Amino acid sequence: MVAVDNLSNSSKESLNRVQKITGKTLTFVQCDLLDRALLGQIFADYQPDAVVHFAGLKAVGESMVNPLDYYKNNVCGTATLLEVMVENSIKNIVFSSSCTVYGAPKNLPISENSPLGAVNPYGQTKLTIEQMLKDLQVSDTSWNISILRYFNPVGAHQSGEIGENPSGTPTNLMPYMTQVAVGERKELSVFGGDYPTKDGTCVRDYIHVVDVAKGHLKALEKLSENPGVIIHNLGTGQGHSVLEIIHSFEASTGQKVPYKIVDRRPGDAASVYANPQLAELDLKWKPSSGLRRMCEDSWRWQLKNPKGYS
Ligand code: UFG
Repeated sequence: MVAVDNLSNSSKESLNRVQKITGKTLTFVQCDLLDRALLGQIFADYQPDAVVHFAGLKAVGESMVNPLDYYKNNVCGTATLLEVMVENSIKNIVFSSSCTVYGAPKNLPISENSPLGAVNPYGQTKLTIEQMLKDLQVSDTSWNISILRYFNPVGAHQSGEIGENPSGTPTNLMPYMTQVAVGERKELSVFGGDYPTKDGTCVRDYIHVVDVAKGHLKALEKLSENPGVIIHNLGTGQGHSVLEIIHSFEASTGQKVPYKIVDRRPGDAASVYANPQLAELDLKWKPSSGLRRMCEDSWRWQLKNPKGYS
């Protein structure tokens, strides 16, 4: 197994922890996907059977301020990766997509054949990459491509050794909430209390990261059956409001989360949750962790690593 990362928003220490948890040796090469020469060398040296492609920028707000960074890193980076794969006759790939490709959904739950439409540059890069992969497979049907559309991954590995370590102020709900609970931030701002939902706050489909990881293993197995292009939602099918997340976190960790309801965050959809049936049927994959476990594991990671990996 070879891990490739430019370390722009990650730490090599996380890979040491992976080795500690698994007892397996991992080869690491620091490389940017836009570095065609080095990437070519890595493929020539290691000749992998398949690629699991997680690399990319992923902050919606940042993508609106710096769209070109997003197109260059995500779209051009993926095009370079695919070219190098072609040169090395490696045609199996699992790609990290996102429920963001559904834009502001009109019907719930969201199935894989629901209408697509990006509402920000980040989402547009995911949609563009999906289309690039589909076009590639039409041009050469020996490609096997799995596109996984994640909903809201949260939680951490149960050991507390690996978890989310955002640089700077977290933009996502769970890391912000754990930093409030540990006393690093004063209170959580809940973005909007007047949405047409059960309690007025936004509803999302939160899924444990370890369930997401297991989905990739199932997708890799499926590629060996030569399926062409396959697309699956990775979600639980359960929608939870922001207030439910806060209360569940408080109940499962015993920590108080001071919060206040503030204005809506521009671009947030009221409710987003998956129909996860296709992944269950095709990939034989089903998430096993509920909200309580997601909160407990996020909290354990936060407590064990108050300064992240540093
Ligand atoms: N929220 C707050 N306060 C915060 C942070 C978030 O109330 O400080 C709310 C948001 O308004 C939203 C919910 O918590 O209702 C979840 O927000 P996140 O930022 O954690 O996640 P999003 O659903 O906005 O975004 C996620 C991924 C994106 C992806 C998007 C697709 O982080 O990468 O889903 O919808 F594009």
